[in-house]
Amino acid sequence: MAILYALVARGSVVLAEFSATSTTANAIARQILEKIPGNNDTNASYSQDRYIFHVKRTDGLTVLCMADDTAGRRIPFAFLEEIHQRFVRTYGRAVLSAQAYAMNDEFSRVLSQQMEYFSNDPNADRINRLRGEMSQVRNVMIENIDKVLERGDRLELLVDKTANMQGNTFRFRKQARRFRNTVWWRNVKLTIL
Ligand SMILES: *[C@@H]1O[C@H](CO)[C@@H](O)[C@H](O)[C@H]1NC(C)=O
Ligand SMILES: *[C@@H]1O[C@H](CO)[C@@H](O)[C@H](O)[C@H]1NC(C)=O
Repeated sequence: MAILYALVARGSVVLAEFSATSTTANAIARQILEKIPGNNDTNASYSQDRYIFHVKRTDGLTVLCMADDTAGRRIPFAFLEEIHQRFVRTYGRAVLSAQAYAMNDEFSRVLSQQMEYFSNDPNADRINRLRGEMSQVRNVMIENIDKVLERGDRLELLVDKTANMQGNTFRFRKQARRFRNTVWWRNVKLTIL
Protein backbone atom coordinates (compact mmCIF):
# COMPACT_ATOMS: atom_id res chain seq x y z
CA MET A 1 0.00 0.00 0.00
CA ALA A 2 1.29 3.43 -0.97
CA ILE A 3 -1.15 5.36 1.24
CA LEU A 4 -1.09 3.98 4.76
CA TYR A 5 -3.02 6.39 6.94
CA ALA A 6 -5.63 9.13 6.50
CA LEU A 7 -7.87 11.45 8.48
CA VAL A 8 -10.51 14.13 7.99
CA ALA A 9 -10.62 16.99 10.49
CA ARG A 10 -12.23 20.34 11.15
CA GLY A 11 -9.49 22.43 12.76
CA SER A 12 -7.90 19.95 15.14
CA VAL A 13 -11.14 17.98 15.69
CA VAL A 14 -10.72 14.61 13.98
CA LEU A 15 -14.02 13.53 12.43
CA ALA A 16 -12.89 10.27 10.81
CA GLU A 17 -9.64 8.37 10.35
CA PHE A 18 -8.33 5.07 9.13
CA SER A 19 -4.98 3.33 9.33
CA ALA A 20 -4.00 0.43 7.08
CA THR A 21 -1.24 -0.66 9.43
CA SER A 22 -0.02 -0.35 12.97
CA THR A 23 1.71 3.05 13.13
CA THR A 24 2.27 6.21 15.17
CA ALA A 25 1.18 8.30 12.17
CA ASN A 26 -2.10 9.18 13.91
CA ALA A 27 -0.26 10.91 16.76
CA ILE A 28 2.02 12.79 14.38
CA ALA A 29 -0.97 13.78 12.22
CA ARG A 30 -2.57 15.39 15.28
CA GLN A 31 0.59 17.34 15.99
CA ILE A 32 0.57 18.59 12.40
CA LEU A 33 -3.09 19.67 12.68
CA GLU A 34 -2.26 21.75 15.74
CA LYS A 35 0.74 23.38 14.13
CA ILE A 36 -0.55 24.41 10.72
CA PRO A 37 -1.19 28.12 11.13
CA GLY A 38 -4.33 30.07 10.32
CA ASN A 39 -7.47 28.99 8.50
CA ASN A 40 -6.43 29.58 4.91
CA ASP A 41 -6.62 26.96 2.23
CA THR A 42 -3.34 25.03 1.92
CA ASN A 43 -1.68 22.21 0.07
CA ALA A 44 1.40 21.02 1.94
CA SER A 45 3.70 17.99 2.20
CA TYR A 46 5.96 17.18 5.13
CA SER A 47 8.48 14.38 5.04
CA GLN A 48 9.60 12.30 7.98
CA ASP A 49 11.93 9.38 7.38
CA ARG A 50 10.73 7.66 4.22
CA TYR A 51 7.16 8.81 4.57
CA ILE A 52 5.34 11.97 3.61
CA PHE A 53 2.35 13.58 5.30
CA HIS A 54 0.27 15.28 2.62
CA VAL A 55 -2.21 17.89 3.84
CA LYS A 56 -5.01 19.63 1.99
CA ARG A 57 -7.17 22.20 3.73
CA THR A 58 -10.18 23.60 1.88
CA ASP A 59 -12.81 25.82 3.51
CA GLY A 60 -11.66 24.83 7.01
CA LEU A 61 -11.86 21.09 6.34
CA THR A 62 -8.52 19.28 6.43
CA VAL A 63 -7.83 15.97 4.76
CA LEU A 64 -4.45 14.46 5.58
CA CYS A 65 -2.74 11.25 4.55
CA MET A 66 0.60 9.57 5.13
CA ALA A 67 2.11 7.87 2.10
CA ASP A 68 5.32 6.13 1.23
CA ASP A 69 7.71 8.63 -0.39
CA THR A 70 7.90 6.44 -3.50
CA ALA A 71 4.21 7.26 -4.12
CA GLY A 72 5.19 10.79 -5.21
CA ARG A 73 2.59 13.49 -4.74
CA ARG A 74 0.12 13.29 -7.60
CA ILE A 75 -1.64 10.17 -6.35
CA PRO A 76 -1.76 11.20 -2.69
CA PHE A 77 -3.20 14.61 -3.62
CA ALA A 78 -5.72 13.05 -5.98
CA PHE A 79 -6.74 10.87 -3.02
CA LEU A 80 -7.08 13.91 -0.73
CA GLU A 81 -9.19 15.73 -3.31
CA GLU A 82 -11.48 12.71 -3.78
CA ILE A 83 -11.89 12.30 -0.01
CA HIS A 84 -12.69 15.98 0.44
CA GLN A 85 -15.39 15.85 -2.23
CA ARG A 86 -16.96 12.69 -0.89
CA PHE A 87 -16.95 13.99 2.67
CA VAL A 88 -18.60 17.30 1.79
CA ARG A 89 -21.09 15.60 -0.52
CA THR A 90 -22.07 13.08 2.17
CA TYR A 91 -22.25 15.31 5.25
CA GLY A 92 -22.83 18.85 3.98
CA ARG A 93 -23.39 21.39 6.74
CA ALA A 94 -23.15 18.74 9.47
CA VAL A 95 -19.39 19.09 9.06
CA LEU A 96 -19.49 22.57 10.63
CA SER A 97 -20.71 21.37 14.05
CA ALA A 98 -19.82 17.67 14.21
CA GLN A 99 -18.19 16.27 17.35
CA ALA A 100 -14.92 14.36 17.32
CA TYR A 101 -15.24 11.02 15.53
CA ALA A 102 -18.88 11.75 14.59
CA MET A 103 -18.38 10.34 11.09
CA ASN A 104 -15.82 7.70 11.96
CA ASP A 105 -18.03 4.59 11.96
CA GLU A 106 -19.27 5.23 8.47
CA PHE A 107 -16.48 7.16 6.81
CA SER A 108 -13.45 5.16 7.98
CA ARG A 109 -14.74 2.48 5.60
CA VAL A 110 -14.67 4.96 2.71
CA LEU A 111 -11.13 5.99 3.68
CA SER A 112 -10.07 2.36 3.71
CA GLN A 113 -11.59 1.63 0.28
CA GLN A 114 -10.19 4.75 -1.34
CA MET A 115 -6.72 4.15 0.14
CA GLU A 116 -6.76 0.74 -1.36
CA TYR A 117 -8.00 2.05 -4.72
CA PHE A 118 -5.50 4.90 -5.02
CA SER A 119 -2.64 2.68 -3.83
CA ASN A 120 -3.30 -0.23 -6.16
CA ASP A 121 -5.45 0.69 -9.14
CA PRO A 122 -3.58 2.26 -12.07
CA ASN A 123 -6.84 3.92 -13.19
CA ALA A 124 -6.70 6.22 -10.19
CA ASP A 125 -3.66 7.90 -11.66
CA ARG A 126 -4.79 7.84 -15.28
CA ILE A 127 -8.04 9.73 -14.67
CA ASN A 128 -6.18 12.26 -12.68
CA ARG A 129 -3.54 12.82 -15.34
CA LEU A 130 -6.29 13.35 -17.90
CA ARG A 131 -7.93 15.94 -15.69
CA GLY A 132 -4.62 17.79 -15.52
CA GLU A 133 -5.69 19.38 -12.25
CA MET A 134 -2.54 18.80 -10.33
CA SER A 135 -0.40 21.57 -11.72
CA GLN A 136 -0.75 23.69 -8.60
CA VAL A 137 0.02 20.80 -6.31
CA ARG A 138 3.11 19.98 -8.29
CA ASN A 139 4.55 23.34 -7.28
CA VAL A 140 4.21 22.58 -3.58
CA MET A 141 7.58 21.68 -2.14
CA ILE A 142 8.04 18.70 0.13
CA GLU A 143 9.39 20.14 3.35
CA ASN A 144 10.98 18.40 6.26
CA ILE A 145 8.55 17.88 9.12
CA ASP A 146 10.89 19.94 11.32
CA LYS A 147 9.39 22.93 9.56
CA VAL A 148 6.09 22.48 11.45
CA LEU A 149 7.11 20.41 14.45
CA GLU A 150 9.96 21.25 16.79
CA ARG A 151 12.57 18.56 16.76
CA GLY A 152 12.05 18.14 20.51
CA ASP A 153 8.35 17.32 20.54
CA ARG A 154 8.33 15.40 17.30
CA LEU A 155 7.36 11.77 17.84
CA GLU A 156 9.16 8.86 16.36
CA LEU A 157 7.37 7.59 13.26
CA LEU A 158 6.84 3.85 13.57
CA VAL A 159 5.27 1.94 10.72
CA ASP A 160 4.65 -1.77 10.81
CA LYS A 161 5.61 -2.86 7.32
CA THR A 162 4.72 -6.49 7.01
CA ALA A 163 7.26 -6.95 4.23
CA ASN A 164 10.11 -6.16 6.64
CA MET A 165 8.71 -8.09 9.53
CA GLN A 166 10.61 -11.30 9.05
CA GLY A 167 13.98 -9.59 8.93
CA ASN A 168 13.19 -7.63 12.07
CA THR A 169 11.88 -10.65 13.91
CA PHE A 170 15.05 -12.53 13.07
CA ARG A 171 17.28 -9.71 14.26
CA PHE A 172 15.21 -9.40 17.41
CA ARG A 173 15.60 -13.09 18.17
CA LYS A 174 19.36 -12.86 17.81
CA GLN A 175 19.50 -9.90 20.15
CA ALA A 176 17.33 -11.73 22.67
CA ARG A 177 19.65 -14.71 22.56
CA ARG A 178 22.71 -12.50 23.07
CA PHE A 179 20.97 -10.87 26.01
CA ARG A 180 20.13 -14.22 27.60
CA ASN A 181 23.76 -15.34 27.22
CA THR A 182 24.98 -12.16 28.91
CA VAL A 183 22.60 -12.71 31.80
CA TRP A 184 23.69 -16.34 32.07
CA TRP A 185 27.40 -15.38 32.28
CA ARG A 186 26.67 -12.74 34.89
CA ASN A 187 24.91 -15.37 37.01
CA VAL A 188 27.86 -17.74 36.64
CA LYS A 189 30.27 -15.02 37.75
CA LEU A 190 28.09 -14.14 40.73
CA THR A 191 27.92 -17.80 41.74
CA ILE A 192 31.72 -18.12 41.59
CA LEU A 193 32.17 -14.98 43.65
C1 LIG B 1 -4.25 33.96 4.97
O1 LIG B 1 -4.57 34.61 3.76
C2 LIG B 1 -4.60 36.02 3.85
C3 LIG B 1 -5.10 36.58 2.54
O2 LIG B 1 -4.57 35.89 1.44
C4 LIG B 1 -3.20 36.53 4.21
O3 LIG B 1 -3.19 37.92 4.32
C5 LIG B 1 -2.77 35.90 5.54
O4 LIG B 1 -1.44 36.25 5.84
C6 LIG B 1 -2.89 34.39 5.46
N1 LIG B 1 -2.63 33.83 6.79
C7 LIG B 1 -1.75 32.83 7.01
C8 LIG B 1 -1.62 32.39 8.42
O5 LIG B 1 -1.11 32.30 6.12
C1 LIG C 1 -4.40 23.35 -3.86
O1 LIG C 1 -4.43 22.48 -4.98
C2 LIG C 1 -5.61 22.52 -5.75
C3 LIG C 1 -5.48 21.50 -6.85
O2 LIG C 1 -5.67 20.23 -6.31
C4 LIG C 1 -5.80 23.91 -6.29
O3 LIG C 1 -7.01 23.97 -7.01
C5 LIG C 1 -5.83 24.92 -5.14
O4 LIG C 1 -5.91 26.22 -5.64
C6 LIG C 1 -4.59 24.77 -4.28
N1 LIG C 1 -4.70 25.64 -3.13
C7 LIG C 1 -3.71 26.41 -2.71
C8 LIG C 1 -4.00 27.26 -1.54
O5 LIG C 1 -2.62 26.42 -3.26
